[in-house]
Amino acid sequence: MPENRGKFITFEGIDGAGKSTHIATVADLLRARGLVVVATREPGGTPLGEKLRELLLHEAMHLETETLLMFAARREHLARVIEPALARGVWVVCDRFSDATYAYQGGGRGLDKAKFASLEQWVHGHLQPDLTFLFDLPPEAAGQRIVRQGREMDKFEREHADFHARVRQAYLERAASAPRRIHVVNAGQRLEEIKKIVEEIVVTYCL
Ligand code: TMP
Repeated sequence: MPENRGKFITFEGIDGAGKSTHIATVADLLRARGLVVVATREPGGTPLGEKLRELLLHEAMHLETETLLMFAARREHLARVIEPALARGVWVVCDRFSDATYAYQGGGRGLDKAKFASLEQWVHGHLQPDLTFLFDLPPEAAGQRIVRQGREMDKFEREHADFHARVRQAYLERAASAPRRIHVVNAGQRLEEIKKIVEEIVVTYCL
C-alpha cells in the first residue's frame, strides 16, 4: 500500500456492548480533521454482503458454512469497498471484522483455530486493521441492554449467556495477543467517559 493510504479502524464487542455510538463519534472526529471516511459493517457492506448477512443472522447452518460465508462476505467487502478506499487515501471505519469471526465462530461455537487462521491468511493475509476497539462488557449487562432496546433479536443475540461469555473471553484473548492493535475499552462506563477515551486513542495512535 502507498504511504498516503487511508487507515482502517474496526470496532468489536459482544452484542449489546454499544459500539454503534462510538463508530459515529470516530467518523465525526476524522471528518472534522478533513479526512474522507467510509463507514461500513460486517457481515455486509456490499450488496452481496448484505444478502449474506440476512442469511447469516437468521438461518441456522453448520458452523463451517457460517464461517466460510463470513469470510466470503469479507472477501467481497475487501475487494469492492475496503481496499479501493484505503488505496485512494480514504479512511475506513468498520463495524466488526475478522476478530469477530475469531470470537464468535472460534470462541462462541468452537471452530478450530487453525481453520480460522488459514482463512484469515487467505482472505486478508496482507492486511490487518490499523486500530481496533474492543468494547468490553459482562454478558449479563450487555443482554439487559438488548432487552431494553425491545427489538427483535437475531440468531446470535438469542444465544445463551454462556455463549456470549465464551465470545467475550475469546475477544480478550485475541486482544492480549495483539495489544498494539486492539484497545480494550470498558463499555460499562458513562457514555461521555467512553467517548473521551475513544477520541484519545484515535488521536494518539492514528492521527
Ligand atoms: P452486529 O449486530 O454487530 O451488526 O453483528 C452482527 C452479528 O454477526 C453479531 O452477533 C456478531 C456476528 N458475527 C459473527 O458471528 N462473525 C463475524 O465474523 C461477524 C463479522 C459478525
